[in-house]
Amino acid sequence: EEIPLEMHKVRIVQKLSLKPIERRLEAINEAGNNTFLLKNKDIFLDMLTDSGVNAMSDRQQAAMLIADDSYAGSETFTRLENKIKEIFNMEFFLPAHQGRACENIISKVLVKEGQIVPMNYHFTTTKSHITVNGGTVEEIFTDEALKINSTNPFKGNIDTDKLKSLIAKHGTEKIAFVRLEAGTNLIGGQPFSLKNLIEVSRICKDNNIILILDASLLSDNLYFIKSREEEFKNLSIREITLKIASLCDVIYFSARKLGCVRGGGICTNNSALFERMKEILPLYEGFLTYGGMSVREMEALTVGLDETMDEDMINQGPIFIEYMVNELSKKGIPVVTPAGGLGCHIDAMRFLSHIPQTQYPAGALAAALYIVSGVRGMERGTLSEQRNPDGSEVLSNMELLRLALPRRVFTLSQVKYAIDRIQWLFENRELVEGLTFVDEPKILRFFFGKLKPV
Ligand code: F0G
Repeated sequence: EEIPLEMHKVRIVQKLSLKPIERRLEAINEAGNNTFLLKNKDIFLDMLTDSGVNAMSDRQQAAMLIADDSYAGSETFTRLENKIKEIFNMEFFLPAHQGRACENIISKVLVKEGQIVPMNYHFTTTKSHITVNGGTVEEIFTDEALKINSTNPFKGNIDTDKLKSLIAKHGTEKIAFVRLEAGTNLIGGQPFSLKNLIEVSRICKDNNIILILDASLLSDNLYFIKSREEEFKNLSIREITLKIASLCDVIYFSARKLGCVRGGGICTNNSALFERMKEILPLYEGFLTYGGMSVREMEALTVGLDETMDEDMINQGPIFIEYMVNELSKKGIPVVTPAGGLGCHIDAMRFLSHIPQTQYPAGALAAALYIVSGVRGMERGTLSEQRNPDGSEVLSNMELLRLALPRRVFTLSQVKYAIDRIQWLFENRELVEGLTFVDEPKILRFFFGKLKPV
């Protein structure tokens, strides 16, 4: 058995409790079968997301004590700006309160009514910001992307032929920008290859189209380039990062994921574009030297970005996820392969083949797993889609239950507990029923929606 090794030791702990199953059943009923609405006190292992819940290092905590508190011109901001320059070689940096805030600024400035935004795959908040501004998302993933089981190490790649034909079909004027998402979230944390980015970047440059990288899950993607892409295995993480950044016009990220704090930011070398985004930043985020983040978070982010350049740090998510994926596969439980970043993704369409997509199998599986284990996962399927304007359901390409492994948070025995409970549920899967909405919000319905068994 290959054991993933924690390259850190635990020095501060938080007590957990495992509530009895009767309470868990009550709790999921109170939450309308939506794991977003559960309270932390009822949860044993919170695998909802890696967002804002990664463990911080001793160095990050220490840095928070030396933060320079000031509305404008704080030294802390200058340190962060300099770290961005060092890591991405990008001159201009706009701070924001989180990733979707960057998407708001970018979409407001770049997306015009009727334009399209080609990308490897959408993310929920990204798509909402683009459509709210009158744009349309065009996904141009490769044929491998939606295969639950594949041996392709880079399922997050853009299909460059599709990109070329989109440009030929619509003309460059109609394309607001091209977006590439690192560690492609909704298809199972799947990376793009550096080779693919090189090609995408060349096409964008040849056609004068802006290329934007969503670097929220960059740390996983960096690790996968380093460990899976033969051609670049001799580059250091820092060199790979600089190479990636040199190929993009804009990089934005959620610091709730990248850098293990809370916050976000937009980086670019394009001064004209920077000026346009800078103009609206104080309206939505805050002054240019904090953008909604506290100085303590910015100080910790500076250290967090630096630690992202350490292979022993960024490998922790992927090697634990790989362990979980391999163990579940061995037991015949359907999971997304190859193992990606962010978390282990269970294929709810196969796990609960008796539940039709219109009854949200991934949502049903999330609720059921909570009941049997106290483990909280997140639905990533039809429930996370937005209905068509005519009210019909958009059936998701995949029905996934995501079990996120926030970085450096869980131990191997906790992961083993989760595997054991998933196996029990798989053996008793016919007990699980589909779900239907009782209360359905119009936008991002998965956050607050309430459901009941069909
Ligand atoms: N882009 C990607 C790829 C993301 O995964 C997220 C957030 C965002 C943008 C938005 O960032 O949350 O800071 O506003 N993903 C979280 C998740 C919510 O759980 O996967 P945010």
